[in-house]
Amino acid sequence: MADGPKLSIDQLLVELKTLAQISEADPPVVTRIVFSEADKRARTYVKALCTKAGLKVREDAIGNTFARWDGTELDLAPVGTGSHIDAIPNAGLYDGCVGVLGGLEAIRVLKQLGFKPRRSIELVIFTAEEPTRFGIGCLGSRMMANVLTASRACGLRDKKGRTLDDLRVTAGFTGSLESVALPAGRFHQFVELHIEQGPQLEEEKLDIGLVTHIAAPASLRVVIEGEGGHAGGKLMPGRKDALTAAAELILALESAAKSTGSIDTVATVGVCEVFPGAVNSIPSRVRLETDIRDTDADRRDRVLDALRAACAETAARRGVTITSELINADPPAICNPEILAAMESAAQQAGKSYKKMVSRAYHDSLFMARIAPVAMLFIPCRGGVSHRPDEYASPEWIGAGVHVLARTLAALAS
Ligand code: GLV
Ligand code: MN
Ligand code: MN
Repeated sequence: MADGPKLSIDQLLVELKTLAQISEADPPVVTRIVFSEADKRARTYVKALCTKAGLKVREDAIGNTFARWDGTELDLAPVGTGSHIDAIPNAGLYDGCVGVLGGLEAIRVLKQLGFKPRRSIELVIFTAEEPTRFGIGCLGSRMMANVLTASRACGLRDKKGRTLDDLRVTAGFTGSLESVALPAGRFHQFVELHIEQGPQLEEEKLDIGLVTHIAAPASLRVVIEGEGGHAGGKLMPGRKDALTAAAELILALESAAKSTGSIDTVATVGVCEVFPGAVNSIPSRVRLETDIRDTDADRRDRVLDALRAACAETAARRGVTITSELINADPPAICNPEILAAMESAAQQAGKSYKKMVSRAYHDSLFMARIAPVAMLFIPCRGGVSHRPDEYASPEWIGAGVHVLARTLAALAS
């Protein structure tokens, strides 16, 4: 690539905004839960853009979508790039979508420059990176890496009791779920472009983050069963209120995460479902979904253990029943030095400032790392805000990310 790429940022922004309008909520809120009508329409839109760009589009049995630009040596494993287009409730428009539509724009630019890749370049749109529907994140990439087996995936249900298998077939993905797993070597290398979802790059006025590690996520689901009753009639002594027990667990988790001595430990209770959920009724059952992450998996596991210990102690003291189920406890990913070197030299050639950094959010690359060398490119997002409708990345930031991605893909595919 002698010349710098001629990015069509205006077109990319229009595409990002068009995709954002395909939502289950009114603008500017983006909500796009996997296999919803919005998810299906968004897939149709993105696939049409890929086809228009001359890519060959294929889908697997869980809806992971592969859009391939054939290289000159078809027997070589392709270089992959991509991310996700599903969005949590009340999300913004950049998380995941920048990596998908930005990846597509990088390919279009390389095509327009007359670049001929030796290895094919494959854009991947992963199914359900977000855990909203089935309670477990990175469904598509987790299955691709066979970390989530087809038989366990089959048993997953959403809150309405619908199985993953039923939902994916209804959405038009009918092949055998076993066929989703890919062998190591299927991808030569994989690079994901994403917004940082933290404040560092903006604060340090840097264009690009070169991700060296992806922190290790875990999730424990906790169910507290107490005793319901009339909020007036039942006096305080002897109550077995499931929600007050849950409150203790939430605080115990916060304290365990704060006391590891590392700023890298984070813990969140993002779901608290209260049954029966009536103001004049003592809560008899509460379901908590917890999210615990760290760059150090052993330290994270000590927080998980502290939460389990708090469950046992609270249950005994309050006379409630507490059960917990480990949904996932994944190891961290270490990014590949060769790809990091290619990204660094791409950033230098593009004249973009950068630094190496850790990803505290998880991404499909966490699972792609099990079957391929991976690395990630971060761009800033305003105020570090993400998973909110006011998430924002400027056209300049996106342009810089796509530019560096295009140069990286060109280097890796040559
Ligand atoms: C991904 O969306 C995450 O929660 O890190
Ligand atoms: Mn997300
Ligand atoms: Mn994401």
